[in-house]
Amino acid sequence: MTISFTGSAGALAFAALFASTGATAALAQEDIGIVVYNAQHESLGVAWAEAFTKETGIKVTLRKGSDMEFANQIVQEGAASPADVFLTENSPAMSLVDGAGLFEPVAADTLAQVPENFRPSNGHWIGVAARSTVFAYDKTKLTEDKLPKSMLDLADPSWKGRWAASPSGADFQAIVSALLSLKGEEATASWLTSMKENFTAYKGNSTAMKAVNAGEIEGAVIYHYYYFGDQAKTGENSKNVALHFFKNEDPGAFVSISGGGVLASSQHKENAQKFLAWLTGKGGQGILRDGTSFEYAVGNGEASNKALPALSDLQYPKVDPATLNSAKVTDLMTAAGLL
Ligand SMILES: [Fe+2]
Repeated sequence: MTISFTGSAGALAFAALFASTGATAALAQEDIGIVVYNAQHESLGVAWAEAFTKETGIKVTLRKGSDMEFANQIVQEGAASPADVFLTENSPAMSLVDGAGLFEPVAADTLAQVPENFRPSNGHWIGVAARSTVFAYDKTKLTEDKLPKSMLDLADPSWKGRWAASPSGADFQAIVSALLSLKGEEATASWLTSMKENFTAYKGNSTAMKAVNAGEIEGAVIYHYYYFGDQAKTGENSKNVALHFFKNEDPGAFVSISGGGVLASSQHKENAQKFLAWLTGKGGQGILRDGTSFEYAVGNGEASNKALPALSDLQYPKVDPATLNSAKVTDLMTAAGLL
């Protein structure tokens, strides 16, 4: 089998040609390819699409964008959307599309591949990967006894000027949506107001981690995989960094679910459902275990990358991803002067 790979920054196409099955089959497969709006990290989206095409012969065209860009675009496009599948980094963008009634329910066999805590209760989309919130800190400056016990402690004046985050990104906004779901609007608004006083904004989690590593700031609220990804390469942007997992069902121990869903308007629902089944099964989850994304596997009985601490040890809070509200988060963060 040959995989031909064509594309630009905005669109990547994979076509599988089967030497053994002949040109007719190859042409038929090309006709029923799927378009995926991929807001997951591009490298993970490409790895998934490439392996799926290789295994099934179904062509995947990936479009590149961010969680909220695509969610709003899908709502705008409505029934005319060219997208068959939407993949996100975090849950709030999935909730937005679901709230507009634009998802086709996920096939029951696919839902059964993922435990209930890694998918919304209504079954309109499904978790495909998970990521843990962490406090990435400068281990040359902070010892364990000096770390915040809760993410909420970072609102204390003693943390003024000492921590960082990337408030414009979907990752941090998902953490705020979890805080909102767990502690309510008043507590969230108050924490965000103190955050504005205390924190330094960086654009992107990698940049925030680099700043910690360079001694610019003592710690940053980011996701775990930025550290493990860097360690697996040269480690040059994380050599002075250690990760603190808040645990104890703290809002700062939030585990965010990356979502996958089939659009109700899809003209290729069968192949779109096959892709979700594959992502949450051995194929897609195996790429999380063996690849370089360092995101957690969520499929039943599927192992995560062995460099990672066990997800079951992280004592993360229970949050139904269907309840995560992006509009309210944007309002509260704007009111606090963070956006
Ligand atoms: Fe990310």
